[in-house]
Amino acid sequence: MSGHDAIGFEINPYAALACRTKLNAFRLSLGEVQESVERFKGFYAQAMASGYTPHSQPPPGFKTRGEFYSPKVLEKVLVVQDFIATLKEGLLRDLFRVAFSSTMVSYSNYSYEPSLGRRVTAGKENVEDFPVGEAVGGKLREMVQDSEWMRAQLKGVNPTSQVFSESFFKCRERLTSGSVDLLITSPPYLNNYHYNRNTRPHLYWLGYAETPSDMKPLEEENFGKFWQTVRERENVDLDFKLKSEEIAECLRTLREKNPEKGIYGGNGWANYAASYFNDCYKFALATKYALKRRGTALVVIGNSILQGGMIPTDRYLAEIAESVGLELIDIHIPRATRIGNSIIHSDVRVGVAEESHKLYEAVVELRKR
Ligand SMILES: C[S@@+](CC[C@H](N)C(=O)[O-])C[C@H]1O[C@@H](n2cnc3c(N)ncnc32)[C@H](O)[C@@H]1O
Repeated sequence: MSGHDAIGFEINPYAALACRTKLNAFRLSLGEVQESVERFKGFYAQAMASGYTPHSQPPPGFKTRGEFYSPKVLEKVLVVQDFIATLKEGLLRDLFRVAFSSTMVSYSNYSYEPSLGRRVTAGKENVEDFPVGEAVGGKLREMVQDSEWMRAQLKGVNPTSQVFSESFFKCRERLTSGSVDLLITSPPYLNNYHYNRNTRPHLYWLGYAETPSDMKPLEEENFGKFWQTVRERENVDLDFKLKSEEIAECLRTLREKNPEKGIYGGNGWANYAASYFNDCYKFALATKYALKRRGTALVVIGNSILQGGMIPTDRYLAEIAESVGLELIDIHIPRATRIGNSIIHSDVRVGVAEESHKLYEAVVELRKR
């Protein structure tokens, strides 16, 4: 919105679609969008009134433990899909696809707690019926307003933007070395939050996944491994060297905790944390590659609590970044408390967080010399 050209990397195709659409929606003509929203409303109202049988089908590969949509809701969702299928491929259709996918869980029998699970498991009732078309239409209205606002902010400036549905770790294939003035990112935190699993409905319903094997590359490319995939390994260690022993010492302490818990004990979590810091190192090298001299990186990252012990991920990332030659300017703490850590609330938790072990959110400010 300041008129700068922008490039983004996001491995999750649903998030990349949302990002790309949000960046470009202001380019659509207001008249064209409003006309198609009106057509959508008419199509939907007609379908509801006439006992219309939808042609669209739910994605066959999308398997869930419980019924994802109740029958009445499913029928309405399929009517929405039928309308989207009438639009030709492009930005306008993507606007509708994002309007659907960004609301799709709210009328399903699943909810975010904060991980995606069945509503019944969280003590909530299933959604038997819902005004699906109205929800999608409401979202579209918000998107139109946002686009109009953005167009006004830009005042005729037309910056370029590119979103690569690829790992930032591959940025060398896309960026010239030393070409980025400002890097802003929030990588996954050290809390084992599974972005890919939590967006399974979106990935399947948008056609980005058809079988479980389509999800695999996302897992492999993710910043940080998933605890479930490394907890059984004997010993994952840091694959880089630092002057200070603090991170290594923290991992040693974690590794020795609760050995009687087997794969749920400290060793599995130490493997998980070590894999995460190895990716922090890869991230620091890629950041150094991408930034111009005197360019800035702002990295939003939260701390973590593993096995009852606090891990200052922000400070560790800063130390790792300094080890590759980046300069640490500051660590800002815009949020001194944070809730919703899936590890603290998870069943695999061992040990209770002490009062001093608060979750906070930090912005690590780095500069290339
Ligand atoms: C904490 S979220 C931030 C999302 C987004 N920036 C926002 O603020 O809403 C982390 C995001 O990083 C993405 N991600 C994970 N590993 C990545 C990688 N290697 N390259 C690019 N994006 C990645 C995840 O898919 C997820 O969307």
